[in-house]
Amino acid sequence: MNLDEFLKKTSPSWKGVTETSELDVSVLISHVLGRSRTWVLSHREHELSTTQIQELEQKLELYRRGVPLPYLIGKWEFFGHEFFVTEATLIPRPETELMVEEVLSWLEKHPSATHVLDIGTGSGCIAISLALSCERICVVASDISLAALRVAQRNVAKFQLQKRVLLVSASLLPPLAKKFDVICANLPYIPSERLKRLPIYGKEPTLALDGGSDGLDLYRALFDALQPSVPKGCLIACEIDSAQVSEMKTLARKAFPEAKIAVIKDLSNRERLLKVEV
Ligand SMILES: C[S@@+](CC[C@H](N)C(=O)[O-])C[C@H]1O[C@@H](n2cnc3c(N)ncnc32)[C@H](O)[C@@H]1O
Repeated sequence: MNLDEFLKKTSPSWKGVTETSELDVSVLISHVLGRSRTWVLSHREHELSTTQIQELEQKLELYRRGVPLPYLIGKWEFFGHEFFVTEATLIPRPETELMVEEVLSWLEKHPSATHVLDIGTGSGCIAISLALSCERICVVASDISLAALRVAQRNVAKFQLQKRVLLVSASLLPPLAKKFDVICANLPYIPSERLKRLPIYGKEPTLALDGGSDGLDLYRALFDALQPSVPKGCLIACEIDSAQVSEMKTLARKAFPEAKIAVIKDLSNRERLLKVEV
């Protein structure tokens, strides 16, 4: 069977599964065939092997059942780099690139800053993107999920950052004596009841998304833990939902009454990042 025949035969089962099903399936095919998407689109006459047909049918069935594309191809792009992802990690989101951009621009203005902590690192996308763009920094990247840390480890090795990105298993603050210049946190912040109504519920790890009744359980605990130990001059950057701005500002102000607090909007013009300069 050639590619054209395969697509004609299978399309009724996957067309319309998502708004981007045609694009998704071309990405899936390009992954299975090990060819570019452009090649796939221009080689409809290509004869598929039995193994390729079986693998494609298997993946299309999972796709039809709602498994997100990044998990089917095992990788996803973030900040211009390709990261391994599995069902143990959140799929890196474009809006999180704002955190990387803001931290990099802060690091540029603070040339003596060298130690960064990334709490809830997941695939390691924030920690690794920072380390790749700023060669002088060392990043401690922590997560409560060992399965996520194993994926982050693969990414650290892929980018050969073993000497500058240290992975640590911990809940919130790792027990390190080190004082950090920057603390990044993209912790789960979706309110539990709201999460249950979202299409991503059950498809990406609940541990990475569920922030408790108002979504701020983890940030509340984080600011409590940070308050006694963060030195003056440190930047704390937290990804949030726009509905949480006022409560997050209150939390930050309570922990650090003298801090400079700012909220940055993402590309969709939604308030997304809380920056606290202690
Ligand atoms: C929203 S995901 C962010 C993942 C990654 N940093 C990103 O931006 O794509 C939140 C991460 O926090 C981790 N996490 C959840 N509870 C935690 C806790 N108490 N301490 C540390 N990490 C936690 C989850 O396992 C998950 O990897």
